Amino acid sequence: MRILVTGGAGFIGSHIVDDLIEAGHGVVVMDSLAPGVHLSAPTYLNPAARYVAADVGDVSAWRSALRGVDAVCHQAAKVGLGVDFADVRSYVADNDAGTAAGLWAMHKGGFDGRIVLASSMVVYGEGRYRCDEHGVVQAAPRTRGDLESARWEPRCPMCRAELRSETVAEDARLDPRNVYAATKVHQEHLCTAFAAEHDVPVTMLRYHNVYGPRMPRDTPYAGVAAIFRSALAGGRAPRVFEDGGQRRDFVHVRDVAHANVLALTAAASVTGPFNVASGDPHTIGEMATALASGFGPDGPVPEVVGGYRIGDVRHIVASADKARTQLGFTATVPFTDGMVEFAHAELRGT
Ligand code: UD1
Repeated sequence: MRILVTGGAGFIGSHIVDDLIEAGHGVVVMDSLAPGVHLSAPTYLNPAARYVAADVGDVSAWRSALRGVDAVCHQAAKVGLGVDFADVRSYVADNDAGTAAGLWAMHKGGFDGRIVLASSMVVYGEGRYRCDEHGVVQAAPRTRGDLESARWEPRCPMCRAELRSETVAEDARLDPRNVYAATKVHQEHLCTAFAAEHDVPVTMLRYHNVYGPRMPRDTPYAGVAAIFRSALAGGRAPRVFEDGGQRRDFVHVRDVAHANVLALTAAASVTGPFNVASGDPHTIGEMATALASGFGPDGPVPEVVGGYRIGDVRHIVASADKARTQLGFTATVPFTDGMVEFAHAELRGT
């Protein structure tokens, strides 16, 4: 197959490019090589791909990159939480308008192949919670008062009892709580609308906490794994917020790339949203410890500092069942091995 990978010079996209090329596919990469993202051209770019250096909003670049392409893997996006609300226009420009530009070009060019979209677990907001008395309930955002008093667990909206977290399946209500999350939901909806009108298969891969080689290092847009990795490499202790008991699903970038390859190349197309997760959740405290172990006994020891960030969700843990049964995807990199490898992996921008 011939596959267009947008954002193919980035953290996840470049691993997808490598896997596709290894499997014998032809790859076109469209990537802005944005100066804010790449300090210089990354050294890991696979020379077997064709590179189109263009912004994701550039419709003529989309049209030429799409020529002869059987499938589109849309990874290009502005990620993370950003600095503050002033980032709203660049998130919407890159994620919403960028996707619209691509879909417009596909429409004009009569594209009838598959689309695989990089989505995120942020579309769910908080995870799924159960109250012993009231069953499954929608957890409201935690109040500042709760967080100031170190009441970390979300509470039942009816009786204020502490809730128990459960795994989130793909049919959970969408509840985007920040600008980035809102743009990911919108990307999903735009692609779904395109699919309905053009009768093409669209797969939305909702990534959980991806980590691994080529991850961008510590920036306002970085996830916790990159922040801790940068701290440890600089000889500083990772600062674990809350009580360190908040749970996430850390999934290795090689597994995420494999999920993309499955969705792009499966004999019969698979459509709709899929959680892409390891199925082996851990607390942030455990993650800090596992990563720190990669720096040996003399390395910095993580500190549970107890603060909080407004807007952080407490637990978000995926059900990996649908991806396993319908996509044939099972993560293979064990948590501790992956974290120890990540301790010494090449990061982007270092
Ligand atoms: C992250 C991403 C989100 C992405 C999702 C899935 C960011 C900011 N968020 O969400 O965009 O869709 O993964 O890939 O990139 N923490 C600490 N110490 C720190 C930093 C964070 O303890 O120095 C804690 C936070 O309080 C939070 C947890 O680590 O409880 C995870 O933080 P983070 O990775 O930033 O955000 P996610 O909610 O997991």
